[in-house]
Amino acid sequence: MASVLFTEISELVTNRGVAKKGGVGVNEEDLGILRDGALLWDSRKGILWLGHDGDVPRGLARGARRVSLAGKTLSPALADCHTHLVFAGDRDDEFRRRLGGQTYQQIAAAGGGIASSVRATRKASESELYKLARARIDRCLSLGVGLLEIKSGYGLDWPNERKLLRVIARLKREYRSKVVIQATFLGAHAFPPEAKNGRDKIAYANSILRKMLPQIKKEKLADACDVFCDDGYFTRAQARRILRRAATLGLEIKLHADELADFGGAALAAELGASSADHLLMASDAGLQRMARRGVVATLLPATAFYLGLPYAPVAEMRRAGLCMALATDFNPGSSPTLHLPFAMSIACLQMGMTPAEVFAAATYGSARAMGLHSTHGSLRVGGKPKIAVFDCPGYVALISRMAHPSLCEKVF
Ligand code: NIG
Ligand code: FE
Repeated sequence: MASVLFTEISELVTNRGVAKKGGVGVNEEDLGILRDGALLWDSRKGILWLGHDGDVPRGLARGARRVSLAGKTLSPALADCHTHLVFAGDRDDEFRRRLGGQTYQQIAAAGGGIASSVRATRKASESELYKLARARIDRCLSLGVGLLEIKSGYGLDWPNERKLLRVIARLKREYRSKVVIQATFLGAHAFPPEAKNGRDKIAYANSILRKMLPQIKKEKLADACDVFCDDGYFTRAQARRILRRAATLGLEIKLHADELADFGGAALAAELGASSADHLLMASDAGLQRMARRGVVATLLPATAFYLGLPYAPVAEMRRAGLCMALATDFNPGSSPTLHLPFAMSIACLQMGMTPAEVFAAATYGSARAMGLHSTHGSLRVGGKPKIAVFDCPGYVALISRMAHPSLCEKVF
């Protein structure tokens, strides 16, 4: 498409106020919704004009192809800022075990969990992993996702972490016109299954610092670095060293924080100036307040709490603290085997007491901000070149209310 004038848009969601407020304290008005709207879009210059259908400036729209979006919604594309999308195998047996009463941690302690996906992923070739990932990304696109973060973390040694990062780099290149992919190095997802004692674990953490990070920088294999900082996983001291080093190498930094225990992850994210801290189910009020003061985004992953039967993240405290919230799937084979971001949005409304406006802002602007991409994406304004989605429903609420609808999205561009 060269120049296109979208007319008669039933709901044109701009996120104008959301962007102005940096995603904090969002209410319905901040979505900047225009009913019966129009938007003029140029494939090179981005958004040339937006407003009410009756006010389209004729001169500007001359020569543009007209597309009626009567009965449809046009908005910033959804952003899934937290996924573990590249892995092989499945963990369906663990589902049974959890239904039988075992916890996520008990299964992990018995050699299952992340280690089980690591074994399957190490066995898979780069091209097998690539094929599996492609099918998953196509599914994300069909749901309206235009920004997608993908983590490594099922390799847990350098050859295998590198293999995963190379798959992500290839996906990034090949999907460039369709979806913005952010590659995150999560070598610190867990200790490798062969690390039997404390010494081995320290050696692994050191190898991330001394070997993997410099090599990643050299080969330009990642945009961001994440650490699973929690009880039984990486300590705060280890996370601090790894993330500080990653930051000096120019990577965005983020954390899996306070998912299983109040481990001080939120405060560490604030101390380091991370772009986001994710999960936060057990985060303390003081930690959340520190994050808000430092401008760290709180990424909510409701599908994970739902799937593991854990308490949901403390949204009321996050609101009070004045945090920008993001919302993502956490797609992975063990704790959230769903790519359906709109389904996670439904859970956030139905189970966490968030409003549809908060949830929509979180899954668009908030997630773009968690990826450090909010100056371009997550809101619609003249001169901007964000990823945009068209949904076949008369308003954005339908995305959330029609739970897990398979195909409301018509197009992402
Ligand atoms: O975000 N918490 C750590 N990592 C993932 C789970 C990964 C897995 O179980 O394979 C998560 O929930
Ligand atoms: Fe995760």
